[in-house]
Parts: sequence; structure tokens; C-alpha cells
Amino acid sequence: MTAPPSPTFTAEVSSDAHSVSLVGGKRSATFNRFWLRDVCPSLPAKQSGLRTFSVATLPRDLAVRTATVDGGTKLVIGWSDGHRSTFDVDELMALADAGQGHRHALPPPRRFDATHRPARFDAAGIEPGSVAHHDLLDTVATQGMALIDNLDDSNDATEDLARLFGHIRHTDFGRIFNIVTEPEAWTLSQSSVGQDPHSDDPYRYTPSGFTILHCRRAATGGGESILVDGFKVADDIRRSDPEAFNLLTSVSIPYVRHRTTAVDQGEDVHMIAYAPVISINTAGEVMGIRFHERSTGVFDLDPAIVDRYYLAFRAFAAGVRSPTNQFVHKLTDGQAIVVDNQRVLHGRTDFGADVEGRRHMRLCSIDRDQVHSRLRRLKEVHGLGPIDQRLHSGSISA
Ligand SMILES: [Fe+2]
Repeated sequence: MTAPPSPTFTAEVSSDAHSVSLVGGKRSATFNRFWLRDVCPSLPAKQSGLRTFSVATLPRDLAVRTATVDGGTKLVIGWSDGHRSTFDVDELMALADAGQGHRHALPPPRRFDATHRPARFDAAGIEPGSVAHHDLLDTVATQGMALIDNLDDSNDATEDLARLFGHIRHTDFGRIFNIVTEPEAWTLSQSSVGQDPHSDDPYRYTPSGFTILHCRRAATGGGESILVDGFKVADDIRRSDPEAFNLLTSVSIPYVRHRTTAVDQGEDVHMIAYAPVISINTAGEVMGIRFHERSTGVFDLDPAIVDRYYLAFRAFAAGVRSPTNQFVHKLTDGQAIVVDNQRVLHGRTDFGADVEGRRHMRLCSIDRDQVHSRLRRLKEVHGLGPIDQRLHSGSISA
């Protein structure tokens, strides 16, 4: 005979009209009346995809009438509207952090600078759905970038890599942008001129989430990638100049893409998005960066702040240009880099010395939530961490 499993949490209960408290050992939690009804097990599970419950069906004066713990394992609540809730005490305590207003932490900040040694992956070693697949997605989501070596010498290799992250998004440059040097360059990308680090698609309400840059042929001279951790630049400004940080998070500026004629890889467009350079959430956590000086429109700022705003914007631009923040890496043939486009700014050095004109890069974009969703599922499948991991939701337009 084996003894029946004993509860891990033996509770005592107390209540008033608006809350129920459970106390057991060193653990205790107090739950709000509406919150309890919102997670009541008689309703479809809170964490399932769709629910039919509406809080509007609850009376404004909803009250707890009785609350008892049955055998230490079942919490039974009688309500003023006649409903009766029965909770498994352990299951309810598993939600105690949320019930007390404690939000899951974001991944620990690991900002990088010029001394960065990014994680590297071998393209041949990443089976879809594997732990290595998880590790790749986890790396780009938490560290902002990863290098991938040994891609096949083919255009298909770009697609194969992208498939690990999600569906390729159509942009104003089509699905995959072939960056090759053109004698009649219609965009700076098609020239051999260097570019200051920037985020792509700032003129979209929702910019590219993750950007994949696949190097089929490196330039013979120059053309090194420059990567800057925008979160680090934001952190530095927050510490050194809180007023500038406040302006960069609270004031939206216009980003514009206006092309009146179609080009061989994309249609005519006129996109405008207003957004702050640094997006923070309501808790003040930095969630995303949008910064691209070549794509800014005419600033239409309140004269009372315009001077201070330019000084703040200048501070961010100076941080991006600071050699101490710029990680420089020359991609080699068959190597790719994946960056969190709403965190890590990318640029390149001039490659006018590419006398053979051999440089060929392939670029594509994946939506942010697709990558994060897939990462959470891989955590769940492989038991590799919280399945509801909160991640940086990116830059918002406003
Ligand atoms: Fe770019």
C-alpha cells in the first residue's frame, strides 16, 4: 500500500468581501475577487487560446461570501452572485506571482560593445526543432545577434536559414533583397559607400523584427559589418543624462520612405511612421530601438523642446558612432549574421576597394513575434525554461 500523494501546500484561508488569502508554511498570497473569478477553473483555461468569458458579466459589487479549504488541497469560494469556485490549492499557488502583481522578468541584460565575441552556430548543425535550434533563437532574442557559419554556397541557403526563424516578410525590396554593387545605384545599399549603423524599416509601423544578412561573396576590400547594441546606448544615456533619456522615450519623430518610381526589386512607396528612438514599457523597461538618421523626416517638434531634443538625439547618434560601442566584423563567404533589428543597429564600412565588384549580400526580414513564439514553443518542447518567457516586444510607433 502506498500512501496517497500529500499536497505540497497545506493552506489556511481567510477572506474579506474583496479578497481571499491563503497561508501555508512560509508561503502566502492574497487574491483579488475579480482576478479569482477571471481564473476560476469552471471557465475555460486562462492560458488557452480563446475564452468566452467576459468580466462584464460579473456584478460591480461582487463579493466573497464564504471561503474554505477542503482537506488542505481544495479552496472553495461561495460568491454573492451564487457562483461557486473550486480551486486546486497547488494550482492556484502556481499563479500566485501573477496574482500578487509580480511580472516575469525579462532575460537578464547582456549588452555588448566593441569587444563583443558573438555566439557562433554551424548551419549544418541546426536541425529544425532541435535544442540547437532553440539555442540559436534564444541567442538572437537575448543577446541581439548571432553568427552562422558554413551556409551552402547557394541562394537557397538564405531561405533555409530564414525558415528556422519564421516566414520571410515582403518588404518594399521584395522578399529577399540582393545587395550587389550597381553602377547606377538607386539606393545607398547598392553603392560601395559605408553606412552608419541604423535599424531597418523605421518608416514602418512595425519594422523588421529580425534581419538576416547572408554573405554569398565578401568584398575583396572593405565592407565590414558594424554592429551596435542600441540597448547599451540607451542604458548609457539613461545613466548619464536622464533628461535626454526621457526625451528619447517620450517624443516621437517621423521616419519616411518616399520613392515615387518602382525599382527592379520593389514598388513605389510612401511610408511614414512616427516613433520614439527608445521604446519603453509602462514599467520603464527598454523594449526596442528605432534609429536611422537617413530615414528621418522633417522634425515637427514643439519649439519649447526642439533644442533639447536635438541634443538628446545627438547624444544617441554619438553613442552609435562611438568606436567603443561598435563591434566590427567582416562576414566571409558562406557566413550569415542575424540581428534583432529593433535592438541592434547595423552598418558597414566603405568597400570602394572591392575592385572585382564581387560583394553579394542577401537580406531578408522576419517578424518579431514569430521568432519569439517559436522560441517559447521550443522551450516548452525541450523543457528549457519558462514557457511563457517575457521578451523585448520591440519598437512601437506612436
Ligand atoms: Fe540596413
